[in-house]
Amino acid sequence: MSAPPRTVILTGAGVSADSGVATFRDPQGVWAQYDHREVATPQGFAANPRLVHEFYNARRRGLPEVAPNLAHEAIARFQAEAAARGGSAILVTQNVDDLHERAGSEQVWHMHGELAKARCDGPEPGTPGCGAIHPWTDDLGLETACPACGATGGMRPHVVWFGEMPMLMEEIEAALAAADCFVSIGTSGSVYPAAGFVHAARAMGVKCVELNLEPSENAYAFDDGRYGRASDVVPAWVREVLGDS
Ligand code: APR
Repeated sequence: MSAPPRTVILTGAGVSADSGVATFRDPQGVWAQYDHREVATPQGFAANPRLVHEFYNARRRGLPEVAPNLAHEAIARFQAEAAARGGSAILVTQNVDDLHERAGSEQVWHMHGELAKARCDGPEPGTPGCGAIHPWTDDLGLETACPACGATGGMRPHVVWFGEMPMLMEEIEAALAAADCFVSIGTSGSVYPAAGFVHAARAMGVKCVELNLEPSENAYAFDDGRYGRASDVVPAWVREVLGDS
């Protein structure tokens, strides 16, 4: 099987699991330790911004402690090789970590935002701030001033919360419509709109492949599935598709 000319890859928390980053819905996952309504919704932020900042500060502080794994590296290699062969491999991730970039992926479409960025939403939750987005590695808090407008109290993680619109949706839909192959890696298929991508791709005649630890909720919708740890199955799939020995 030669590399499909136009591929869209979707990743979820499972691609970073072998780097030691917790997934969300596994038994020891993030949502087994926190109530997502308290730490990952606009209402939770309005009710207790300090708790939300603490939740994201702890995850942001953990970023330097983890490193890309063989799955991130294989995806970066696949993207480079697809481009070298005159095709494309667009990487859409639900993850807010920076492991794809650190593995060498250049174009990474973070549809749920990025932990290493902060946004000025204004002094009161829900009031428009200057909207500036800044690279951010330090802690955030109510006293944090926006480097662009100086307002405090409105800086928030540049992360999409439940109930908010994911980013880059028009671009993602256009990429799926133009794709020959859709590859879903390390996601449970629990959260829309990402969980709907396979259905949209399938309806447009796109070949759909799932690479995951175990069959996801949408496994039935895929043409092919390879199951195991991402750091094993992703490099193996990339070698097969690129025709490596
Ligand atoms: N290798 C491959 N897959 C794995 C591994 C691994 N080592 N470990 C776990 N998985 C799989 C799990 O079987 C599961 O199907 O990764 C998937 C992780 O699913 P979730 O924890 O639900 O994470 P994800 O699908 O990314 O969640 C989507 O939900 O809470 C929101 O915004 C959050 O982006 C997240 C979204």
